[in-house]
Amino acid sequence: MTTPLLELRDVGKTFGNVIALDGISTSVRAGEVTCVLGDNGAGKSTLIKILSGVHRPDRGELLLDGSPVEWAAPREALDAGIATVYQDLAMIPLMAVWRNFFLGRELTKGWGPLRRFDSAQARRVTTQALGDMGIDIRDPDQPVGTLSGGERQSVAIARAVHFGARVLILDEPTSALGVRQAGVVLRYIAQARDRGVGVVFITHNPHHAFPVGDRFLLLGRGRSLGDFAKGEITQEEVTRLMAGGAELDQLTHELQRPPV
Ligand SMILES: Nc1ncnc2c1ncn2[C@@H]1O[C@H](COP(=O)(O)OP(=O)(O)OP(=O)(O)O)[C@@H](O)[C@H]1O
Ligand SMILES: [Mg+2]
Repeated sequence: MTTPLLELRDVGKTFGNVIALDGISTSVRAGEVTCVLGDNGAGKSTLIKILSGVHRPDRGELLLDGSPVEWAAPREALDAGIATVYQDLAMIPLMAVWRNFFLGRELTKGWGPLRRFDSAQARRVTTQALGDMGIDIRDPDQPVGTLSGGERQSVAIARAVHFGARVLILDEPTSALGVRQAGVVLRYIAQARDRGVGVVFITHNPHHAFPVGDRFLLLGRGRSLGDFAKGEITQEEVTRLMAGGAELDQLTHELQRPPV
């Protein structure tokens, strides 16, 4: 087995007296999708913020290519090839697709005082990079704000892949989307995976996780309910564990009509 790109070992994080994460271990491998599942407040976003250098764990270890690392800032994680697409997306709605694509990574031409943004090249590269992922944007000059939610997520994924991400972290990219658009985003997740990227896919929907996932980390109130490889668990078991099994049975019982 190859060394994981990223690995968490027994990681814990508290905020004041809230235990956001406790004893969490999992791994992310090249060409695989690690799904992180859990209900609201389970600690999913906290976990990705630890992977991407926003938070430092209070306990446990983060390993990159098998060696322990401590990110001093998100930039360090980014420079190591760990790209994160946050739910609110760091894109500017009024700016064109190609402008957003090169945000913070502007292409320039010329030297010294004559250096300027090479917009024609940026348009071409954007259209090409999106096309490579099978994303057909009609017009790269279209403002990002006019794209659908699924298209916007797709542009963000293509952008991370284009700039050489080794690990791509997606925080609930499908949660606000309808069935068809969620399917589109899942397809791009699979594309990134097939190009050898290690994907961390956060969702609370087992129906979205199961078709693309190679590994499933289930979180419940900051604790691990299990870290399973594909084949070690069924979709029904995931759903049941997430719903808190016994709690769901209790609820079903409560919701039943009383006999007349
Ligand atoms: N910066 C913070 N300060 C204090 N508490 C925090 C902070 N960040 C997260 N928490 C707490 O940690 C717990 C886990 O939060 P987190 O955002 O990781 O959950 P989540 O699984 O992403 O939930 P959701 O599905 O609602 O996005 C919550 O109880 C939350 O209130
Ligand atoms: Mg969250």
